[in-house]
Amino acid sequence: MSILAKHKFIETNATLLLVLSFLVVTIGGLVQITPLFYLENTIEKVEGMRPYSPLELTGRDIYIREGCYVCHSQMIRPMRDEVERYGHYSLAAESMYDHPFQWGSKRTGPDLARVGGRYSDDWHIDHLRDPQSVVPESIMPKYGFLEETLIEPDYVAELMSTHRFVGVPYTDEMIAAANADFRAQADPDSDYDEMLERYPGAQVRNFDGAPGISEADALIAYLQMLGTLVDFSTFTPDASR
Ligand code: HEC
Repeated sequence: MSILAKHKFIETNATLLLVLSFLVVTIGGLVQITPLFYLENTIEKVEGMRPYSPLELTGRDIYIREGCYVCHSQMIRPMRDEVERYGHYSLAAESMYDHPFQWGSKRTGPDLARVGGRYSDDWHIDHLRDPQSVVPESIMPKYGFLEETLIEPDYVAELMSTHRFVGVPYTDEMIAAANADFRAQADPDSDYDEMLERYPGAQVRNFDGAPGISEADALIAYLQMLGTLVDFSTFTPDASR
């Protein structure tokens, strides 16, 4: 059979054509995807990235529960206008402990990937209570109720175990100390040295300024951490790839 005749045979046999096309696409797909699982540098290593502290992780859960991600992305694209507005573009490593990741593509409000440290805790409290009091044209809903809901950290250890199950490197020690670390981070009078050893760079404060640990404490601890972990003075983008 000549090559032309073979081609005609394949093209006039719908099933055979489908099977062969599927094979070709599968091989193409595997060639592209498989190396990504083995390449060391799929995620560039950065200094400072660590699993979230129990309080931050709880805040992240509240962030997801309240649907903040519906209006806010957490991914700064490597484009000049974004970098000038929000800061260094996001690195893959910055989401490596996010399950699920919070990138998003729709921004009703600003990107939050580097909102940590941009405002004071008081600003966040005012803004959560009544966004229009600080930004009159804001359409963000009010979240004042978060301050009124106090949380007991009993379930935090389990939350961390679940994250460990999907790959976050929480150690047995971290999980055993979850409850204590949760309380220590929200109480500047506590003995928080061990917590800081486990979660370097964690900010220790009474975030909402009120007694007890509220959902607002956890959420603000999370917001104030966003984008602050990576030490960009040690990061050199590898543009050679
Ligand atoms: C309906 C959309 C919407 C939802 C839901 C929403 N926001 Fe916003 N957010 C906005 C808009 C719009 C702005 C810009 C105006 C302002 O600052 O209020 C904003 C601003 C912010 C800012 C200030 C960002 C900056 O760089 O100035 C923070 C922090 C913030 N939101 C946190 C949250 C958190 C936390 C939640 C969930 C509890 C949330 N938002 C839910 C729309 C939303």
